[in-house]
Amino acid sequence: MRWRVEPSRSMRCDIQVPGDKSISHRAVMLGAVAEGTSRISGFSDGGDNQRTRTALAALGADIRSESPGQLSIDGVGLRGLRQAGGDLDMGNSGTAMRLLAGLLCAQPFASRLIGDASLSARPMRRVIEPLQRMGARISAREGGTAPLEIAPAEGPMRGARHRLEQVSAQVKSALLLAGLYADDVVEVIECGVTRNHTELMLEAMGARISGAPGGRVGLAPPQRLRALSLDIPGDLSAAAFLLVAGALAQRGAVRLHGVGVNPTRDGVLRILTAMGADIRVADERRQGGEPLADLEVHPGNLRGIAIEPEWVPLAIDEFPALLIAAACAEGVTELRGASELRIKETDRLEAMAQVLRTLGVDVEPLPDGIIVEGLGADGRFSGGHVRSRGDHRIAMAAAIAALRSDGDIIIDDCECVATSWPGFAAVLSRAGVLIET
Ligand code: S3P
Repeated sequence: MRWRVEPSRSMRCDIQVPGDKSISHRAVMLGAVAEGTSRISGFSDGGDNQRTRTALAALGADIRSESPGQLSIDGVGLRGLRQAGGDLDMGNSGTAMRLLAGLLCAQPFASRLIGDASLSARPMRRVIEPLQRMGARISAREGGTAPLEIAPAEGPMRGARHRLEQVSAQVKSALLLAGLYADDVVEVIECGVTRNHTELMLEAMGARISGAPGGRVGLAPPQRLRALSLDIPGDLSAAAFLLVAGALAQRGAVRLHGVGVNPTRDGVLRILTAMGADIRVADERRQGGEPLADLEVHPGNLRGIAIEPEWVPLAIDEFPALLIAAACAEGVTELRGASELRIKETDRLEAMAQVLRTLGVDVEPLPDGIIVEGLGADGRFSGGHVRSRGDHRIAMAAAIAALRSDGDIIIDDCECVATSWPGFAAVLSRAGVLIET
């Protein structure tokens, strides 16, 4: 699917963005092994989350949807999952595959996790090796990539202390999920702050979690998990595209209600604010342990910055959008310490370097980051023909460049946007940026 995005100077919207993708994955997995019926609202309709839902249904949980975004999950208890009838296809979703590897390696039955071409090229040793140290019998292809073959567990997982080599919430979460089935405490020592959605949800379900993100996080294996009642906050990673679009517009305002602003995840707000964006955060509140707020952004000029290294993991999914902001800023933006971006759905440093160059911006990719020469307040993108490389966030980032473009932006391979936000093109069009398919 190809998009043609028309230049626009106005961005006006007042909406709720889709439910948080990370929290939606966790809600289905943990709801499935809870006792009793979990009631979830705000569940994301993105393809990645639907994969997780389908997998947990195949593993024996009864999951019903009464209306869009509402799920009822009849949990089968920690010991109640049963073998799926075939392969579990995680599509494009790294989070689904890595977290499910943690949950499934502790079960008394075999599972096989497969994914699409992009997911089948992403590194899985980061979860396989620490899970093996807990007693998991899990293997991958020679290069450490999917399919993942998981043999039945021969007994409880072993309690363990893991010192993580990557700053990764997926690895931490996979270990905590295996730790639900351990004979002793599982401890994860992080080398940077990562999102703590798994810990917050486990605590809300009655598990005992110790420590804090970025330090030492411990889980004492629980007897059972209580069912969840959860209204999932809006996804800040989806909101990021509208926040940047709202800042780059000449007219209008973007208002987003009930967006998750968990401080382990809010780097995009910190970075845009440091760049001078006019972002207002109002009515901060909590839902199921998760902080959320209403966000408003108004047009304004941005300045280039050197991005603080400790903000990088807090904004790891938002760099495609942030690099579009950087390209429109006055001066240079420097991103370093972000080599993880090379192993996302695509190599996002390379993909964004190509998008920006095509649109007329000077960039210098680095092994672990990128330097972007901003066009400045009066500068404009040239328009051009770019590729998403099958990565939803690259496609959406290229689309919002239309707010500062003189020419049409043509984007190839846009089906992938449905993995996180099937309604994105419609929302952007209603806000004033026309997208023709
Ligand atoms: C996620 C963690 C991050 C993020 C991903 C979602 C999660 O990945 O990029 O989109 O839900 O735990 P890493 O753990 O690889 O940093």
